Amino acid sequence: MIRSIVTGTGSALPTRRVSNEELAQQVDTSDEWIVERTGIRFRHIAGPEETTATLAADAAKAAIAAAGLSAQDIDLIVLATATPDQTFPATATKVQAMLGIADCVAFDVAAVCSGFLYAVQVADAMLRSGVQRRALVIGAETFSRILDWEDRTTCVLFGDGAGAMVLEARESADADGRGILATRLHADGRHNGLLYVDGGVSTTGTVGKLRMKGREVFRHAVVNLAQVMEEALGLAGLTPADVDWVVPHQANARILDATARKLDLPAGKVIVTVDQHANTSAASVPLALDTAVRDGRIRENDLIVLEAMGGGFTWGAAVIRF
Ligand SMILES: CC(C)(COP(=O)(O)OP(=O)(O)OC[C@H]1O[C@@H](n2cnc3c(N)ncnc32)[C@H](O)[C@@H]1OP(=O)(O)O)[C@@H](O)C(=O)NCCC(=O)NCCS
Repeated sequence: MIRSIVTGTGSALPTRRVSNEELAQQVDTSDEWIVERTGIRFRHIAGPEETTATLAADAAKAAIAAAGLSAQDIDLIVLATATPDQTFPATATKVQAMLGIADCVAFDVAAVCSGFLYAVQVADAMLRSGVQRRALVIGAETFSRILDWEDRTTCVLFGDGAGAMVLEARESADADGRGILATRLHADGRHNGLLYVDGGVSTTGTVGKLRMKGREVFRHAVVNLAQVMEEALGLAGLTPADVDWVVPHQANARILDATARKLDLPAGKVIVTVDQHANTSAASVPLALDTAVRDGRIRENDLIVLEAMGGGFTWGAAVIRF
């Protein structure tokens, strides 16, 4: 049996870090409101030279180094983003060029905040097919470029960044050995209108700005995330009690708390970075993962569950023996 093993993680953030207080000088909001409703204290905002591709390439370099590989070893790049550098070519190919990889398979996946989970399932399937051997799975975003800075109900919630993971195909006879044990994805397009961007190539011909009915998104998020984690764990023959760490999409601390409570998971097993990074969409899960790997919390052989939900709606979970 071929298994996709995580052999390295990396992340990158824009240089500029913006506090709630700084934001409150431009937007009618307060540190108190943002912290109480969301848990967010800081977000990083990309400067003119920092783009989704540059952040992704920096995260990818760190992941490749952590895996002890060189860029030429990579034969697949799957990059999740809703904020590509250009409409085309795929940002994955820009990252390929920045890494100096002469030949590989490279494409983008668009599932907004669930994009990294979608990318993980796609890369895992390609590795297990036996055709590709070493994949870079990246989530990278510059949501600051699609925020309406006049809309306080959305602009305080998001930030920019990138996270990456190296997956390597290895033969494994151990059903509970290291690697991706199960993935589960969903989409329900009936909810397109609750979280979207009001522009696009084929409609307005503009990039557009993010729009969200936050309270309704919140309501769906807790139910969907708890359900999909249980489904993915069930596919792996496991239960929430087996989990060492949950690495959730970092949208709102209250969603993280409510989801953990629903599954009876102690808060201490949930990796939280939303206070430092805000919601970085497809980057949030790999950024949180890399944070917890580098600070020593997540170690080899830990059982981790990644989960995310985003516009579409789309949502998903992955169970990994790290
Ligand atoms: C967006 C969110 C934080 C709002 O929290 P909430 O408790 O639902 O707050 P509401 O939208 O009901 O707004 C409450 C009040 O705060 C005000 N408010 C909204 N944003 C504010 C801000 N940044 N600063 C100060 N006040 C604000 C509202 O205008 C409203 O005032 P009113 O009662 O006088 O009309 C919350 O709904 C949420 O996190 N939703 C999920 C978002 C999400 O996860 N999206 C990404 C998924 S990928």
